[in-house]
Amino acid sequence: MNRLEKKVAIVTGGATGIGEAISKLFAREGAKVLVVGMPQDPVKDVINEIKKEKGVAIGYSADISSEDDAKGAVEAAVKNWGRLDILINNAGVYPEVNSLESYSVEAFDNLLKNNIRTAFLMTKYALPELKKTRGCIVSAGSEAGKIGLANVTPYGGTKGFMHAFMKGVAVEQAKNGIRANCVAPGPIDTAWTHKETSGINKTMEKQLIQATPLGRRGTPEEIANVYLFLASDEASYVTGAVYSADGGVTVAKGAVGGDIPSKLAKEPKGKLDLKHQQDGATSVR
Ligand SMILES: NC(=O)c1ccc[n+]([C@@H]2O[C@H](COP(=O)([O-])OP(=O)(O)OC[C@H]3O[C@@H](n4cnc5c(N)ncnc54)[C@H](O)[C@@H]3O)[C@@H](O)[C@H]2O)c1
Repeated sequence: MNRLEKKVAIVTGGATGIGEAISKLFAREGAKVLVVGMPQDPVKDVINEIKKEKGVAIGYSADISSEDDAKGAVEAAVKNWGRLDILINNAGVYPEVNSLESYSVEAFDNLLKNNIRTAFLMTKYALPELKKTRGCIVSAGSEAGKIGLANVTPYGGTKGFMHAFMKGVAVEQAKNGIRANCVAPGPIDTAWTHKETSGINKTMEKQLIQATPLGRRGTPEEIANVYLFLASDEASYVTGAVYSADGGVTVAKGAVGGDIPSKLAKEPKGKLDLKHQQDGATSVR
């Protein structure tokens, strides 16, 4: 299928976790993709993996919380392909899990820099180009921006910002033909939701699955599918939405996920070949 044929897309945080799935799915659907990631991220690997599948992608390794680098990312897409149709603000961090009185100021600042400043700068510099193409923006919200999640309260705050930010952009930029939406995932099978790779403990890991009616984590590909819809022309009447893709966690009460038979609680296999699902960072760096 070519649901994004002739489109040029930027995917921030596009080399690991959910971002890797978005980059690869968009390339498969015909988009030319600028994969943006931190210098430590496997951006080159993802580009090569996309090219092996005959997709079109280039990499941009930089910290896009720097104004020059955010501007540079937009310029790189336009210089290479002459236009920009889609901005995916997926970059984000989950640097600490702690009760607020112990939550470090360093981790808080890291959240503001990577979850909020990146989205502000990328959106600001992408808008003039999106105006020319009647393009769209899809940003990473979260269940944590909708409901109260203990021990990650500053993280939840950044996601609440993202929901409100995209709604405002949707209203303000409608006159320029630009749509803006959020995807709000629940617990997704990346480095962030495993006790071995993140700050969560065994009890929290168990709870995040039990609290989810579908009784399992979502896969990066399941989330990428929602990004694809919102970024495509099929979503031409969707703007200002915070689109939940969360296994039902935000509408549930109690440990309902525990009722799901194990056969049904299996993650779908998917069609993408993901190699960096668990390669994201879960500490300040
Ligand atoms: N995993 C989940 O359960 C979950 C749930 C809800 C929302 N989300 C959101 O989805 C997005 C992706 O999460 P993930 O689980 O795939 O994590 P991840 O760590 O695998 O991916 C995030 C990527 O963003 C990159 N990044 C961060 N700051 C950057 C910067 N300043 N410049 C360039 N790149 C930067 C990271 O290096 C990383 O590659 C995040 O915004 C997150 O808040 C995730």
